[in-house]
Amino acid sequence: MPRHIFVTTALPYANGNFHIGHIMEYIQADIWVRFQRMMGHTVDFCGADDTHGAPIMIAAEKAGVTPQQFVADIAAGRKPYLDGFHIQFDNWHSTDAPENHELAQSIYRALRDNSEGSLIEARSIEQFYDPQKGMFLPDRFIKGECPRCHGKDQYGDNCEECGAVYAPTELINPYSALSGAKPELKTSEHFFFKLSDPRCVAFLTEWTQDGKLQPEVANKIKEWFTTRSNPDGSTSTGLGDWDISRDAPYFGIEIPDAPGKYFYVWLDAPIGYLASLKNLCTRRGVDFDAYLANPALEQYHFIGKDIVTFHTLFWPATLKFSGRKVPSNIFVHGFLTVNNGEKMSKSRGTGLDPLKYLKLGMNPEWLRYYLAAKLSGRNEDIDFNADDFMARVNADLIGKYVNIASRAAGFLTKRFGGQLGPVPEDGAALLHDLREARHNIEQLYEARETAKALKDTMLLADRVNAYVDLHKPWDLAKHPEQSAQLQGVCTVLIKAFRILTCYLKPVLPALAAQVERFMNTPPLTFASIVQPLPAGHVIDPYQHLMQRVDEKQLDALFEPPAQVEQAQVATNNEVKKKTPAPATPVDPSAPGGEAVAPTISIDDFAKVDLRIAKIVACQAVAGSTKLLQLTLDAGEQDEVGQPKTRNVFSGIASLYQPEQLVGKLTVLVANLAPRKMKFGLSEGMVLAASHADEKSHPGIYVLEPSAGATPGLRIR
Ligand code: 2FM
Ligand code: ZN
Repeated sequence: MPRHIFVTTALPYANGNFHIGHIMEYIQADIWVRFQRMMGHTVDFCGADDTHGAPIMIAAEKAGVTPQQFVADIAAGRKPYLDGFHIQFDNWHSTDAPENHELAQSIYRALRDNSEGSLIEARSIEQFYDPQKGMFLPDRFIKGECPRCHGKDQYGDNCEECGAVYAPTELINPYSALSGAKPELKTSEHFFFKLSDPRCVAFLTEWTQDGKLQPEVANKIKEWFTTRSNPDGSTSTGLGDWDISRDAPYFGIEIPDAPGKYFYVWLDAPIGYLASLKNLCTRRGVDFDAYLANPALEQYHFIGKDIVTFHTLFWPATLKFSGRKVPSNIFVHGFLTVNNGEKMSKSRGTGLDPLKYLKLGMNPEWLRYYLAAKLSGRNEDIDFNADDFMARVNADLIGKYVNIASRAAGFLTKRFGGQLGPVPEDGAALLHDLREARHNIEQLYEARETAKALKDTMLLADRVNAYVDLHKPWDLAKHPEQSAQLQGVCTVLIKAFRILTCYLKPVLPALAAQVERFMNTPPLTFASIVQPLPAGHVIDPYQHLMQRVDEKQLDALFEPPAQVEQAQVATNNEVKKKTPAPATPVDPSAPGGEAVAPTISIDDFAKVDLRIAKIVACQAVAGSTKLLQLTLDAGEQDEVGQPKTRNVFSGIASLYQPEQLVGKLTVLVANLAPRKMKFGLSEGMVLAASHADEKSHPGIYVLEPSAGATPGLRIR
């Protein structure tokens, strides 16, 4: 029976570009969606940007744009990633779209006006207020120690260490992340979703423990039903009510009949799944309510293990008690680490920049294959390891799979006009086994056990390669009287290759499309496996299907941006034009618009010789609006003991008049290789601070030492 399935991935915050953790989740879901379609099922695959919340509001303010503009800019950058990795959402929408405003408000009203008793309660609560900033502090801007695991520097809403969800007031030793001030408690009216209501408890107990969730997820949730920590350090049993409102100013959706109050971002974010679907329905002329009313519709959400609470408690309860369809299941994956590095979290940088991967010309299907070869239906963490990546892609995809076609197709084309012949007996047995494997591989894909599905596929490829080695088509080709055997063996290989391609197609859609073209076969599905190509079918000449991974590409992928070049970019706009953009993308949520650079050792730092220097002269540079020419005294002498100065060009003309700088002390990179510029030789560089996104944060600020420093002193 064909199924109808609605699939989503977690909606990414619209405050930064995708990192490899997002791409992994989308690839996992995309593989599952493609598999379902190959099984003949109908799937609608929706995504959206998660746009609301205080962090985005604050980031937009810092960037000097409206939050709407800010999130639109981020959304505009999504396509190259999705297209680049063959991630085929049917719709990409926004939680700030009208559909979401309407849906969130109507869902809220339904919860509030529930006929068996309202599930919304207004309560005055004490909330943290930043006395320096004069505003209530959003959860993400209060930090402190986790009340559950005592992890340090955790955010005010949930703990990245242990996954606990709590009120900011439960944090131990809280501080404002905006000002560092100790926050004060102030009273404000908030709205709560009464998860502690016996109806919710009964529903969620059943929904989370009926066996559909992954066992490790269900077990974790069980703890939340039994123990909860209170602000005073005591613990309570049972589910706590959920604070779903925030005070203005807030970028979000207004709460009906409550001026100045907005939905907490996590209330409207998952509703964004439905908003995206609704938008898709509208685009297709489908009635959204009728679509959802289909009792056979299945609904699945792919998420990371850090947001399980939201998806297994709040989200199903929100849907259930607003009279809507609840999710069929939540598919939880673990974190991705890169080269055994740190966990990919939302806010931290990563070692593998997906866009850089694509720009280097690396094949997106290598990454799809590699990740799929590690992913399972459990939520364990997986690691991207560069050496393992190269070995696996080259050995499996090229060595075991692609080679089958390249070995067989040439003979068929050259000797038999591309025509398939009858299948010899031992070949028929092999093909039969390959087809029979279908049931197992289908089940593995269904259960998101892609690593096992690919492992089984590669074992089948091994058997096909053993068949090649047994029959040695290259030897058969030397003997004209064995022409029929050659055609038979190559026919088996092409048919086997076609079956293997079916098994790999959810992971390698572009490669499969190439195979379909050269084999002259309609788009492959799982049904194609039992509809073999007939004898006499003609294939086109073989076209090269896939390159091997080249080590140099991996070296380039993980090469940190050159320190010196980057440093020059920071102070010298003239140079910047000629220097490739630094690999670190602008990240509006990071300090100064960019993630902190990879750790260096003290020895690395010691290589940079920083000296106090006096600006003894300064002048504009004819022909440049950006540069100033500085004459610096760093306490140096020439061979005959005379004071020696340095000439340095610096891209600081936008903020300084030459006369403002004369006489000032600053910091010189004294051992930087001299650089020949259009205007003369630059013998070093002065240090200045600037934002990564110069357009929205113009300004370059030259460093000055404290009083008492003299030219020539080393900075260490
Ligand atoms: O954790 C996150 O990145 C959230 N933006 C995920 C939201 S998922 C859904 F609820 F929208
Ligand atoms: Zn914790």
